[in-house]
Amino acid sequence: MVIARTIEALQAAKEEFKGTVGFVPTMGALHQGHLSLIQQARRENEHLIVSVFVNPTQFLEGEDLDAYPRKEEADIKICELAGVDILFMPSIDVMYEEDELCIGAPAVRGYVLEGEKRPGHFDGMLQVVMKLLNLSGANRAYFGKKDAQQLALITQMVKNYFMDVNIVPCEIVRDDKGLALSSRNAYLSSAEKERALCLSRSLKHATKMVMSGELQAAKIKKEMLEVLKIADSVEYVAIVNREFKAIEKVEIGNTIILVAAWVGKPRLIDNLWI
Ligand code: PAF
Repeated sequence: MVIARTIEALQAAKEEFKGTVGFVPTMGALHQGHLSLIQQARRENEHLIVSVFVNPTQFLEGEDLDAYPRKEEADIKICELAGVDILFMPSIDVMYEEDELCIGAPAVRGYVLEGEKRPGHFDGMLQVVMKLLNLSGANRAYFGKKDAQQLALITQMVKNYFMDVNIVPCEIVRDDKGLALSSRNAYLSSAEKERALCLSRSLKHATKMVMSGELQAAKIKKEMLEVLKIADSVEYVAIVNREFKAIEKVEIGNTIILVAAWVGKPRLIDNLWI
């Protein structure tokens, strides 16, 4: 495995490539969720690039940029074992210059839910993903459905900018109790981890309601909020279509139910695609 820390090193390592390239961008502190993306990308492509870059432009003032878990040595080991060809680990200077040209999230889809709670987050996320996709030259790039809105906006960016890459949505990976895996779970004590299960439980409850014929979004949200009472605070429970527009009635095959809540230090998100 080549560890590339500069653009030049990345380009030189890519010169060896002859077939399809898969790419998994990450912010490191790799866990089983990332590993499943990496393994899928490994199976589906002849060459595989993973990036580890904690992108400052997607953190808002006062968010956990400095405290964000960094585990460089472990990340290198995991990538080596997973058969990654190039691990791209740039510094901030390599990725950004001052007074940059920026791209912005779309005015509607980019500013609801996560975009409303974290205004500016998606601008920074799209900016770095655009850079990383261009640098990787990948045929396919893999993103988890857990960050559903991120995934929708990246797919839209690729469409709007006519970028030549396939965005592959990947299933959410959960621990054996149902907690969606996230690097921020590292902040949870074991008691908080137990309470954090209310997010996935609220989604399971929503599934049961839908399966028993209840499609009214308002009723489903009300009962989900009951399950979520043990979180420290709930930022939103939303039922939207795949366009991220709020809907009054669940449309089977075109609905995402999303939840964001604080438990202890971290803000957690989870969702369910129906
Ligand atoms: O989902 C993430 O880890 C990040 O938002 C991403 C896509 C790597 C961009 O920094």
